[in-house]
Amino acid sequence: MATTAPDDTSTARPIAPVDVSDAALYVEDRWHEPFADLRANMPLAWHPESPYGPYWSVSSHRLIQQVEALPDLYSSARAITITDARDDVPFDNFIAMDRPQHTEQRRVVQPSFNPSEMKRREGEIRQRVTELFDGLSQGETFDWVEQVSIPLTIGMICVLFDFPWEERHDLKRWSDWASEVTPDQSDERTALWMEQMMQMLTRFDALLEEKRAQPPGDDVMSRIIHSEAMGQMPAAERMGNIALLIVGGNDTTRNSMSGFIDAINRFPDQLKRLHAESDLIPNAASEIIRWQSPVTHMRRTATEDAELDGQAIRAGEKLILWYISGNRDESLFDDADRFDVARENARRHIGFGFGIHRCVGARLAELQLQIYIEEIVRRNICIEPRGDWERLASPFLHGFTKMPVEIVAE
Ligand code: HEM
Repeated sequence: MATTAPDDTSTARPIAPVDVSDAALYVEDRWHEPFADLRANMPLAWHPESPYGPYWSVSSHRLIQQVEALPDLYSSARAITITDARDDVPFDNFIAMDRPQHTEQRRVVQPSFNPSEMKRREGEIRQRVTELFDGLSQGETFDWVEQVSIPLTIGMICVLFDFPWEERHDLKRWSDWASEVTPDQSDERTALWMEQMMQMLTRFDALLEEKRAQPPGDDVMSRIIHSEAMGQMPAAERMGNIALLIVGGNDTTRNSMSGFIDAINRFPDQLKRLHAESDLIPNAASEIIRWQSPVTHMRRTATEDAELDGQAIRAGEKLILWYISGNRDESLFDDADRFDVARENARRHIGFGFGIHRCVGARLAELQLQIYIEEIVRRNICIEPRGDWERLASPFLHGFTKMPVEIVAE
């Protein structure tokens, strides 16, 4: 039964029994129960205190969509994670903008991810996946995250941005810093963060200037620099948008790839099913995004007093949209904790978000995942754990830092 607390508008607020922003829940893989409880008893729950300040938890699929369908009322502009943006830190990008600026900038990059571009990229992606798998050793233990998920996704970002492969370790480091969500907002931490972001900006500015000197092309960097909406962005916006594109396309796909290994180890019958019915592979790619939910949450901020599901929301309050929970919503997904490659409504997952900010790179992510799964199935390999998986300490990205495995031929 929900505990309620009066607030100064004299409505009772359902108080969440557990702070689901606690990174320990994700490191220790203990998030299922608290969210099942929230969905069943208070899909809109108030957390009066947390290391990130007070927040609303939105945990059902229906309510998450409802919030995202009202982007003017529930704004992305203040911040898109549970951490409040510091006013003194210059950093801005289109995922954290509202209309009309969001629309203008999104339009610039969107064509780089359309179906014809994806068709053009397919051969290139397949070749990189095949080469990487050819180089994997059998009969010895290695870290799947380090040897497979990271190089495959970083490689994709290098191709997307024409970024030199030799400098890929910088890309990974910047991406990790850019996606960090921590209650530590100290000046020291912020200075370290800024140092990394400035390094990233300097390197990418050089690449952008090279593109400016060339005729306009179809790749993202060329589109950005030759566009009206993004060609003359101030430094804070260039920094923010570059970080958005590298984090957007990096940790998310990486953690879906690692998540697939976790899923087939827990549900080995599902890999067998893919061997028998390879036409299920595209659906398996959607299902892994639902099941893994690599982006744990996004955040919105109420721009004015509102009512959501009969509950008063006050202007300025933050709403955390827990995709990880919406994707396990048993009112939509039968036996939701099960990884099921034939799930009929897998594509209704909310792992890419919903509405005007829905992931712009969704097709690219799906294509990468399909090719990756095809390769695992085609090679008929068995990837067996050789030690415990280690998980990311973050309430924002849901993934793995280490997966010791051994490849055993079937
Ligand atoms: C499995 C992989 C991926 C997942 C789970 C994912 C998830 C998400 C989510 C949840 C959002 C926010 C949606 C919302 O607020 O409603 C988003 C937005 C975005 N994603 Fe992805 N993403 C993935 C792959 C990619 C890739 C490959 C790229 C491109 C390189 C990318 C670039 C972006 C960008 C630029 C946005 C901002 C869109 C906007 O604000 O209009 N993502 N993504």
